[in-house]
Amino acid sequence: MAQPRILILGAPGAGKGTQSANITEEFDVEHVTTGDALRSNKEMDISDLDTEYDTPGEYMDRGELVPDEVVNAIVDEALSQAGGFVLDGYPRNVDQAEELEDMTDLDVVLYLEVSDEELINRLTGRRLDPETGDIYHLEYNPPEDPEVEERLVQRDDDTEETVKERLRVFEENTQPVIEFYDDRGVLERVDGEQAPADVWEDVKETIEEAA
Ligand code: AP5
Repeated sequence: MAQPRILILGAPGAGKGTQSANITEEFDVEHVTTGDALRSNKEMDISDLDTEYDTPGEYMDRGELVPDEVVNAIVDEALSQAGGFVLDGYPRNVDQAEELEDMTDLDVVLYLEVSDEELINRLTGRRLDPETGDIYHLEYNPPEDPEVEERLVQRDDDTEETVKERLRVFEENTQPVIEFYDDRGVLERVDGEQAPADVWEDVKETIEEAA
């Protein structure tokens, strides 16, 4: 199979980052993630764009969307350099979905479905290894190595208050994106509420069938 172009959609905490790591390894594609790209540029000065806040970080820590102009440029640049990819975190509103149509074709559009209650548990228990970027969960997926456990950190936007705002923003802005792809008949739904290995089995099978 040529390197597939994969879009992975899902609410905050649905497991997009977790499954994208499996996808990049199995299918030898690049992980293009707007969340990570923006976290590396949280302090970037965007005030000349006449935006409400002066840096991406001020939007992110409130759980709000960073302005389209900033995010579109990041994705356009990343996709122009990638062969196959798994795109994670974009599009988050219908305007971004329309922009993406001008940037590239997609072979597979995956949607990880998870209930709100489970999303809140996952996000408030998530921890990251700052050295490797690996994702853990205090209860569902704790690290085996005590040295790793000691250095784990929580993401700034994983507090309960910000998580609730992120879920609200998802409902308002990103649910219409799910409908956008569903209306075009290309949306592949995966039950994201299962154990990570079972989600992966379904994700892998769906990509192999569709790509
Ligand atoms: P972003 O980084 O994209 O965050 P998100 O979409 O909110 O998604 P997350 O990374 O929180 O969750 P995930 O689905 O990757 O879950 P994970 O695999 O880690 O965006 C952050 C911010 O950046 C936004 O709020 C916005 O401000 C800005 N931004 C980004 N893109 C933008 C855009 N396009 N436009 C405008 N602004 C943008 O899993 C979560 C936890 O659950 C982990 O602990 C994991 O171990 C655990 N877990 C995973 N799968 C399972 C499972 N099956 N069972 C049990 N536990 C599991």
